[in-house]
Amino acid sequence: MASDRQRLAILISGRGSNMAALLYAAQADDCPYRPVLVTGNKPRAAGLDLAEAEGVPVRRLDGRSATFWDDLDAALREAGADFVALAGFMRIIPEDFLARWAGRIANIHPSLLPRYKGTGVHEAVLAAGDTVTGASVHLVTPELDSGEILGQVEVAVLPGDTPERLADRVLIAEHQLYPRVLSAHLARFTDPAWIEAQVAARALALPETSARTSHGAPAWHVGAKSSGKLFAILSVRHHGEEAIGLLVKGAGPEEAADLVAHRPELYFRPAYYAPAGWIGVRVDRPETDWDHVAEWLRRSWRACAPAATLKRAG
Ligand code: GRF
Repeated sequence: MASDRQRLAILISGRGSNMAALLYAAQADDCPYRPVLVTGNKPRAAGLDLAEAEGVPVRRLDGRSATFWDDLDAALREAGADFVALAGFMRIIPEDFLARWAGRIANIHPSLLPRYKGTGVHEAVLAAGDTVTGASVHLVTPELDSGEILGQVEVAVLPGDTPERLADRVLIAEHQLYPRVLSAHLARFTDPAWIEAQVAARALALPETSARTSHGAPAWHVGAKSSGKLFAILSVRHHGEEAIGLLVKGAGPEEAADLVAHRPELYFRPAYYAPAGWIGVRVDRPETDWDHVAEWLRRSWRACAPAATLKRAG
């Protein structure tokens, strides 16, 4: 499955033990991601030497540079990163950078979020007398340590624990948690059942639609059984294509050719279906914009709906 693996960039500031856990987990045959870059804000971070020794491309950027965030963005794009994992990356990410990578950055934090955000976590856990702590993997949003929680692990607090001893045990748990949770999160983007559910929810929200199949592929139909038409088909590499794509109807062959020429990462010419006016939109990447997919479904629905349906829908 090597070619369909999500391309993962990892950002670090220090020793990079979570980065190492992510790298070694990626050696498993069924790992859904492939590390394509390790970088961060500290050009001498120890973790960068380790990544280099393991044969992963490294960029030694300097967080003090005025162009740091642009350099980082460029490095991620040059590496073709689909998704970014923060692993002890000690910089607050500016909002405009986050907006460019919305939904595509995860972080690991050494507490059971939403408890104990920020730093000084283990001291706070001990001061509160908690008997259980843990670690969380979450999506990164502008508010610190507050994005959607993707997974957690619990770690018992022992009598006589110091912040250091507790941190050491939580770190062991982090190393188990991060690859597992990230893998589950990234695998769903190429999981045909998950993708079909995303499309179905949006297609069936349109008036007078129903689920069908087209030559065995999941498809959605508008209008009465006799007079209606298919307006969307999900092609799960049906003809050996590299991508899972949603086939929709556009304005015609010129628009289709134009889209494929200008945005080849998003659009493709579907085998067999293209001559009948179908355009392929890739839906198997973490950056899939599901609002954009919904717009295509609406457009295609409009192009295919019988006149009476259009009239009733207003
Ligand atoms: C970990 O405790 C992680 O939870 C936090 O920073 C630390 C990084 O350690 N975000 P390492 O560099 O992965 O060893």
